[in-house]
Amino acid sequence: MNQTIAVIRGDGIGPEIVGEALGVLDAVAAKFGHTFTYKEAPMGGCAIDRFGVPLPEESLAACLAADSVLLGAVGGPKWDGQPPVNRPERGLLRLREAMGLYTNVRPARMFADLAAACPLRADIAARGIDFVVVRELIGGVYFGQHTTTEIDGEQKAVDIMSYTEHEIRRVARVAFQMARKRRRRVTSVDKANVLDTSRLWRKTVTAVAEEYPDVELLHMYVDNAAMQIVRDPGQFDVIVTENLFGDILSDEASQITGSIGMIPSSSMGEGTRGMYEPIHGSAPDIAGQDKANPIGTILAAAMMLRYSFDMETEAGAVEAAVDAVLKEGWRCGDIMQGGGTPVGCREMGRLIRERI
Ligand code: IPM
Ligand code: MG
Repeated sequence: MNQTIAVIRGDGIGPEIVGEALGVLDAVAAKFGHTFTYKEAPMGGCAIDRFGVPLPEESLAACLAADSVLLGAVGGPKWDGQPPVNRPERGLLRLREAMGLYTNVRPARMFADLAAACPLRADIAARGIDFVVVRELIGGVYFGQHTTTEIDGEQKAVDIMSYTEHEIRRVARVAFQMARKRRRRVTSVDKANVLDTSRLWRKTVTAVAEEYPDVELLHMYVDNAAMQIVRDPGQFDVIVTENLFGDILSDEASQITGSIGMIPSSSMGEGTRGMYEPIHGSAPDIAGQDKANPIGTILAAAMMLRYSFDMETEAGAVEAAVDAVLKEGWRCGDIMQGGGTPVGCREMGRLIRERI
């Protein structure tokens, strides 16, 4: 197969981790007889430095023309002084919207070999952590109107949160379909005791649930969900929630696995084209030092193989290579516990490539 991948290396550790993921994709291409063509698409702070804007039109066009998009990480303190419309994050949000990526899937899974890194009490960790956060990605307060005005000599800021039924319905369907391939339980998270958007969310998800009678639906307020994720994460299978709540809960969910550097995510819309990235940030403090863990990005590439290119065997080969390397005790700094062997970003990439 011949596939074109738009590559956004991004900022901070982005270029290092993406480089290793591309190396793994090359190994897959060689072993399974595919051709992957990479198109560079500068985005984020590096694009501000070079072109003055976080998402140049050519980068957007490259992503829209590609079969899929691989992203490292964008942003960093260097660009904190940018006006809101020109921040690196704005490039990412615009890209998500332009590509119609309304569903963001972030698995929270504890790797058996990394259980020692789990920050939860041993008896909680022992029950296992394996759930998925399905986050709505192009609606809600992220995409409502943002205004700052001055009233009576005082600044006032307003961010509008809005949802329509169809925006809720389409992401809810993804969650129910995913639950069918898992343990058939959806927990819909909202703040329906306070917000109108949440009341509409709850009503709409409940209606969608009728199409999936074989899947159990539970509702939970977001504050309670934040607590339950650390108290008893084993109760969750698929969590579906709106954009801002999903942003927050998915960071929490990844952290309790003890391995935020290991977790990939996919963003999809209609069709097979998606954007794949690790869920961690650009970590400017360790950028360029060969210290970053490339596994999150490598597993994101595996997700791309599976969901965008329908290459289940190839995706499985990448995941098996990662498992093998962990089992052998190789560890980047973020997952270093006890008796592992420390390796840098490049070495970790090489070890995984060799095992494909
Ligand atoms: C994420 C990030 C982004 C978000 C930022 C960088 C805009 O935190 O992908 O979770 O809030 O969606
Ligand atoms: Mg986030």
